[in-house]
Amino acid sequence: VNIALFASGEGTNALQLLKAASTMNRIRIPLVIVDQPSSTLPHKVKDLFPQVEVALVTRAGSREDHEKEILSHLRRHSVEWCFLAGFMRVLGPVLLQGLKGKSGRTQIINIHPSLLPKYPGLESYRKAFEANESEGGATVHWVDEGVDTGPIIIQKKFPRLATDTLHDFIERGKQLEWKIYPEVLKALNDRGDLDGVNL
Ligand code: GRF
Repeated sequence: VNIALFASGEGTNALQLLKAASTMNRIRIPLVIVDQPSSTLPHKVKDLFPQVEVALVTRAGSREDHEKEILSHLRRHSVEWCFLAGFMRVLGPVLLQGLKGKSGRTQIINIHPSLLPKYPGLESYRKAFEANESEGGATVHWVDEGVDTGPIIIQKKFPRLATDTLHDFIERGKQLEWKIYPEVLKALNDRGDLDGVNL
């Protein structure tokens, strides 16, 4: 199973997935798509996983053209599944249709830093922290045409400690993300699909 990762920023989740994939037998990650020239991920991938191609696909024109360009990279590597890891764009019909698997389901997965359906969209850790939530969480879910609305595959909580700064809270959340996202990758490796998977 060939998988592509999509990222925009630091790419810490993408790096965890690449590391995890190197221990798995049925999946391969030949391609990482990055849409932001400022992302620090491309040179980290080149250093640590030199066999993986990083395609920097910036968006100049329409979303449709941007997604067509991304799709041509995916086709070149026979990619069937995409894992979004901090990709700061809502996907449109070109990718949602282009990545439909045999079952007719779009094979795109995302990680979101909240206990969805709470705090979809941007800055979710900050929003939960500022709302004085007693716990935060992270969710891996299927991608559909909405913003962070697809069916949930795994969702885990972490506590907020009385002494937490926002930075501490985010750090604890990211540690949890780095644990649960590779678990989903492992489930795909072991079962060949994620249909019906609820971890
Ligand atoms: C993560 O918190 C992820 O849940 C969200 O964007 C952030 C990306 O962080 N979608 P990184 O680039 O993986 O470090």
